[in-house]
Amino acid sequence: MKGADIGIIGLGIMGQNISLNFERNGFSVSVYNRNMPPDENRRSAEFIETKCRDKRIKRLENIGEFIRSISKPRKIILMITAGASVDQIITELLPGLEPGDIIIDGGNSYYSDTDRRLGMLEEHGIAFIGAGISGGEWGALNGPSIMPGGSSNVRMIIESVFQAISARLDDGSPCCKWIGPGGSGHFVKMTHNGIEYGIMQLIAESYDIMRRVLNMSVNEIAGVFGQWNSGIGASYLLDITVEVLRRNDADGCPLIDKILDSANDKGSGRSMINAAMELGVPAPTISAAISARLQSMNREKRAEISKAYSLNAGSLTKNGEILGDLKESYFLSLLTVFEQGLELLYAASEKYEWRLNLADIVSVWKGGCIIQGGILNTIENALKQSQSLPFFINNQSLFQLFLNGDSPWRRVISVATSTGIPIPAISASLAWIDTMRSERLPASLIQAQRDYFGAHTYERIDRARGEFFHTRWKD
Ligand code: 6PG
Repeated sequence: MKGADIGIIGLGIMGQNISLNFERNGFSVSVYNRNMPPDENRRSAEFIETKCRDKRIKRLENIGEFIRSISKPRKIILMITAGASVDQIITELLPGLEPGDIIIDGGNSYYSDTDRRLGMLEEHGIAFIGAGISGGEWGALNGPSIMPGGSSNVRMIIESVFQAISARLDDGSPCCKWIGPGGSGHFVKMTHNGIEYGIMQLIAESYDIMRRVLNMSVNEIAGVFGQWNSGIGASYLLDITVEVLRRNDADGCPLIDKILDSANDKGSGRSMINAAMELGVPAPTISAAISARLQSMNREKRAEISKAYSLNAGSLTKNGEILGDLKESYFLSLLTVFEQGLELLYAASEKYEWRLNLADIVSVWKGGCIIQGGILNTIENALKQSQSLPFFINNQSLFQLFLNGDSPWRRVISVATSTGIPIPAISASLAWIDTMRSERLPASLIQAQRDYFGAHTYERIDRARGEFFHTRWKD
């Protein structure tokens, strides 16, 4: 009897929905869940009993049977939490696998772990793929954005398997393209998540300005976001924001007002910033977004400090002009978030020799994933004209947006700071741009200080680069 086309390990929400997606698209699927806490075991048993009846999805009870149930070369997708459990399951799988088989890690593993696992598995003749999968529960079922990278010899197989279940754009193109070798697929997904954090924070800050500076109602704010959400400004994250703001609690009041203002994270944004720092790439907007989440978590401390040192700033009444400015500042900050993410990808591609195609990556993000939006068409076109960064400098229409939006952006920051509303991501975006266009920076002073206390030397503006000087400051 022919074996299953695909094996999936892990029957959490993502594993369940990916299994159903494969089955709907003509694949037979073997699934296996490791020993999980009783609750999770019960949920996966329920899934098999209720959702997999009459479907070509079969649950196997032990790993040996699971491996034998899959046709060769086996394609086994791990839909499990990143970290030590990925290593454990690989160790359990390895004795039953044969050269030519393929393991695909569909979680949010750190890219250097993926690199390490790939090296080890290829020594056994097993191909390994780190596939970033974005789109949450709905995307997993109906078509996610997929970013696979790893053992290049199985590229064709991987593309055909994943393109069969990925999201598709209106022109039919799949939101899944081969990313590159090594841990590049997971690196790109990690960068996607950093961008996700940045956009969410920009929306949250715009909300806060409307709420606390302009005293607008939740419903009015939903209306404004609804207006922003069209054409080049349309995005999945604005879509869901409007829905969130329109949702009332049982008492008829906006649910958002009952949700505790302490934002969690699972760590992929932090990983992106770690990688950015390792590669020496500044990503201040994304970094500000992560710090903002971390600061929000310390709610009790904030409550204590706010009592002792309360905000003593005025607030404005509704002001149509500021709303227009806010739209500009949101949009330009959004472009800087993408730019920072792409600069990180460029640096990683150079360092690890991945030969990433940035325009292709952006095209994979155009559907199925959390950061999809109209702006990606424009960014993709800009990158097709020139892969050099910053992409908006090379693109006349984007550059014009920056020229026009400059003053509105500053007005928003000035209104927010003068009324005591923190907007770290919007401010970091403008500071990033201002830094890039400053021919001279006070970094000369930093160099002098370093040379003073540590004899770290400095270069001079009147001498060739690469010539270093030291001053005996105390003499
Ligand atoms: C996606 C999401 C998904 C998830 C992350 C981030 O692309 O589908 O990025 O991977 O939302 O885990 O979640 P946190 O906000 O909890 O870090």
